[in-house]
Amino acid sequence: MSSLPDLINVAQTTEQQFLRHIFVRDQMAEWSKNPLIMAKADGVFYWDIHGKRYLDALSGIYVASVGHNNRRVIDAVRRQLDTLHFSPPMHGTNPVAIQLANLLAQIAPGDLDAVKLQCGGSEVTEAAIKLARQYHKLTGNPGKYKIVSRYQSWHGSTLGSLSASGLKSRKTVNEPLAPGFLHVFPPTCYRCPFGKSYPDCDITCATIVEQVLDMEDPATVAAIMVEPIGHTGGIIDPPDEYLRILRDICDRHNVLLIFDEIITGMGRTGEMFAAQTFGVTPDVLCTGKGMSGGFVPLSAMICRRPIADAFWGPIAENPGFVEGHTFEGNPVSCAAGIAVIQEIFERDLLANARTQGDRLRQGFERLAQKFGIIGDIRGKGLFLGMEFVQDLKTKERFPNEVSLGVRIGRLALEKGLLCRFDPHWLAFGPPLIVTAEQIDEMLAVLEQCIEEALTPFRARPAPPK
Ligand SMILES: Cc1ncc(COP(=O)(O)O)c(C=O)c1O
Repeated sequence: MSSLPDLINVAQTTEQQFLRHIFVRDQMAEWSKNPLIMAKADGVFYWDIHGKRYLDALSGIYVASVGHNNRRVIDAVRRQLDTLHFSPPMHGTNPVAIQLANLLAQIAPGDLDAVKLQCGGSEVTEAAIKLARQYHKLTGNPGKYKIVSRYQSWHGSTLGSLSASGLKSRKTVNEPLAPGFLHVFPPTCYRCPFGKSYPDCDITCATIVEQVLDMEDPATVAAIMVEPIGHTGGIIDPPDEYLRILRDICDRHNVLLIFDEIITGMGRTGEMFAAQTFGVTPDVLCTGKGMSGGFVPLSAMICRRPIADAFWGPIAENPGFVEGHTFEGNPVSCAAGIAVIQEIFERDLLANARTQGDRLRQGFERLAQKFGIIGDIRGKGLFLGMEFVQDLKTKERFPNEVSLGVRIGRLALEKGLLCRFDPHWLAFGPPLIVTAEQIDEMLAVLEQCIEEALTPFRARPAPPK
C-alpha cells in the first residue's frame, strides 16, 4: 500500500519549493518573499505560523462577522456534522436550509422572501443575473437580457459576475467577457465623473442611468446591479437620493434592481442590510461573506415575492429556476448561517456596529486632521475607508510610484494590523463584535503606519486646524 508522502510538517508551509504548489490571489513572486500564512484565530485576532499576532481590522475579508473562534457557530456546525452533513441537492433540500430561508425571509426588508442558498458571492450574483433574465422570459418579455452595472465594481470571479464587474485591473486579462453587460459611472461624489458638486448636481450619476436605458432600449434591459456601497473603487458611498432614484427608474421600465450586498449585508453597515440603511428595497438582494462568519462557505440570493411567484407556474410552461450548484443549501453551512443571525440579534451586534463604526469614523477624522493627507472618509457602520491625497484642495493624488495606501497597508501588516489597502485608499471592516479598546488599538497602529509611511518624503506641514 502506498503511503502519504512525508510532507505534512511545518517547514512545507514556508519554503519556496513548497509555495510553488499553490496559487494565491496575490502576485506569486512578491507574495512568496514574505508569505502571510495564518495558523490560528480568536475574536479579532489572527496568529501566523510564526506566532505573530495580527489585529483583524478586516474580518479576514469582511467575513468573520461574529469573530474568530465563535463558540456558538462552532457548536452549531459540530452538531450539524453529527446529524446530516450533506443532502441531495438535485432531489430536494434539508430542514436547516428551510429554516435559514425562513429566517432570511423574516429579516430581509419588504417582501424579499424567496431564497436561493449557495456557497460564495460569485455564485449568487451570477444567480441573480440568471434570475432576472429567466423572470423576464417567464413574464412575456424575452427580449430583456442586458445587465447594467457600474465601473469600478466587483461582483465576482465567475464569467457572468465578472462581466458585470467594472474593475479593469481584474477584467482586461480575461477579456473578451460575456455579451449583454454594460456599465455606468459610479457615484464617486469626491471625484464626480460629471464635474459637478453635491447637492447641486441633480444626482446626475443616478438620473443619467435612465438616459442610458433609453439609448439601449428598455425593452432589452433586464436588471441594474449595484453594490449599495461600492468596495473596490475605494468605498463608494452614494448620496442619500441615489438608490431611491435607481429604484424609481427600474420601476418605470420594468427593470429589476439587484443589490450586491455580499459585503454590506449581515450587519456591516449597522443594519442587517444596507437596503435598510438607505431605506430602499431592491428586487433581488445577494449576500455572502459575513453570513456564515467564515466558518463554512455560505451565500444567499433573496428575491421579492412577485418575482418568485413567476417561477411557480405549471411544469408545462415553467421549468423552475434553471440554476444550481452541488453544495447549495448545504446543511452545515446553513447551521452556521442560523447561528450567525442568532449571534447578531442576541448580542445586539447591529447596535455595536453603529457605535464602534462612529468611534472608528471619529478616529479616521482625527488622523485626517493630524496628517493632512486624507481627502475623504467614506462608508457606513463598520465599513469605512479613507482616500489619500497629497493636496487637500486640488485632491491631487500621490504619484503611482509612491503608492501611499500600499505603503501604509504593508507597514500595517509588519506591525500586526490587517486592513484592506490599495494605492490610493485604505479600508477597515472589523468583526461586528469589536470593542472600543480594540478600535482604539487598531487606530493607534494605523497612526504609526501613516507617520512612518510619510516620513521619507514628507514636504508639507499638516494644514492649520
Ligand atoms: C461586492 C462583492 N460581490 C461579490 C463578490 C464575490 O464573492 P466571492 O469571492 O465569495 O465569490 C465579492 C468578493 O469580494 C464582493 O466583494
